[in-house]
Amino acid sequence: MRNLDEDTITQAVLARHTGAADPRLREVMTSLVQHLHAFARDIRLTEEEWFAGIRFLTEVGHITDDKRQEFILLSDTLGLSMLVTALNNRKPRECTESTVFGPFHVEGAPEYPLGADVANGARGEPCFVRGRVLGLDGAPVPNAELQVWQADADGRYDVQYAGDHGHRARGTLHADAEGHFHFKSIRAEAYPIPHDGPVGRMLDALGRHPWRPAHLHFMITAPGFERLITHVFRDGDRYLDSDAVFGVRRSLIADWVEHPPGPTPDGGISEVPYYTLDFDFVLNPERTA
Ligand code: BEZ
Ligand code: FE
Repeated sequence: MRNLDEDTITQAVLARHTGAADPRLREVMTSLVQHLHAFARDIRLTEEEWFAGIRFLTEVGHITDDKRQEFILLSDTLGLSMLVTALNNRKPRECTESTVFGPFHVEGAPEYPLGADVANGARGEPCFVRGRVLGLDGAPVPNAELQVWQADADGRYDVQYAGDHGHRARGTLHADAEGHFHFKSIRAEAYPIPHDGPVGRMLDALGRHPWRPAHLHFMITAPGFERLITHVFRDGDRYLDSDAVFGVRRSLIADWVEHPPGPTPDGGISEVPYYTLDFDFVLNPERTA
């Protein structure tokens, strides 16, 4: 196999995969090589462009560590994360749609009783969130676990602040036997994804902004149902049609209803305007083999 040229090299690479012990790995790598080669041919990739790509990926690697995952951010901004989410979460139309997980979920966020204030000191306008977790038949899913997390009024997650200030604007709750849940938090705000690295420079070069529309993350689990990873997006947000990571689904947009100062749903009195968000989730039954 000598003197390979631009017409024969693709087949030659694929022929080297025949010894792969894992058939899925062989399938994945075969398709990847075919698409990579087709891409290079299609745009007649120059050597300078090839090297610029290598340099870019090197920078993505250098900035990535335990706290910052620039490769996932790259996948997110290229729409790949959302495509993989869509391919792997096909479900009946009545079910709540899934969307991207994002990098700001934290394992082991504190457990709160229903009604608690998960903001835990995070800055923002008060918001009371209420809803139910249901099955496809409309019957309540009892005692589902809900993990929630969101950015604060400055558009930052707790983990984006220097130092350890504890968990803020995130927590774990359990719905009651009728599927009801409620908690207090702060109004979700739009925020830019981390854009001080190579992915930010890529967005800039493409004339793209780094903003995500305001949203509240949920991860909901209950025995007998598929895990749901999603967000609820705030209606009226200016970035709903240009989310930097393509995560918006029409069915996930809801109203954060503004209320004047006064009595609040938890029986208290708010001195400042506050918001309520009502949203029900419909889980997909687990597939049985
Ligand atoms: C998020 O919603 O937390 C997120 C998703 C993708 C990239 C950056 C942030
Ligand atoms: Fe987010």
